[in-house]
Amino acid sequence: MRTPVVAANWKMNKDLSEAKSLVSALLADYKKANTEVYIAPPFVFLNEAQQHIKDSGIQLAAQNMNAAASGAHTGEISSSMLKSVGASTVILGHSERRDIYGETDAQINEKVKTALAADMQVIFCFGEQLEERKASTHFEVVKSQLASGLAGVDAEAYASIILAYEPVWAIGTGETASPEQAQEMHAFIREYLRTEVSAKVADQTRILYGGSVKPANAADLFSRPDIDGGLIGGASLQADDFLAIVNAAS
Ligand code: PGA
Repeated sequence: MRTPVVAANWKMNKDLSEAKSLVSALLADYKKANTEVYIAPPFVFLNEAQQHIKDSGIQLAAQNMNAAASGAHTGEISSSMLKSVGASTVILGHSERRDIYGETDAQINEKVKTALAADMQVIFCFGEQLEERKASTHFEVVKSQLASGLAGVDAEAYASIILAYEPVWAIGTGETASPEQAQEMHAFIREYLRTEVSAKVADQTRILYGGSVKPANAADLFSRPDIDGGLIGGASLQADDFLAIVNAAS
């Protein structure tokens, strides 16, 4: 039995007072259940957010991280910095990092290895572009992103990895993959884990869906056998929407 996961990716939204209001609204109505819940605010709010959520059961995640331990990397944030403010989970490989900031599979793989070596949990994101789906290469693309992004990760380390399949054409567009399309890909990913890693890893790894998840479509998506929760962007910026999605996973 896999514990469901719902994670809020706030992306580059909110100022400090708005961030505090969102955290307060979440805490006011959040009821701990069997779903693991994460919020990933921008770096500058991580410390403050952690002060508020630390006894609530909601956990803190970061949206990105540098692969280096420390040093001359102006503007970057390291694993030890994140851990020191209570973020022991990090989102890596998000399509916005790949597409807007040019992160390659190899760079993402370095970050994954750094995070795992630092005993952090990784929410590893991947997914195909619209043209790739139209050309029916989406399974190949996903397989290659998994193979390169997670190269060198041994079977035991998968206990610290949550996968997040996010078809790029469904992110922030209002267009969700249908539950059937999402389940089909999730089943493919689980089969990939079974053949390339191990049956145990295939059975135990949580695979999240991301891309325009909303209260109205969450329950249907999460009821599919290989969908273990969601990575939520836009709908995570409103406490009631996000909590409705959390409830749909429980
Ligand atoms: P969205 O974003 O829910 O706004 O589509 C999801 C994500 O990018 O993680």
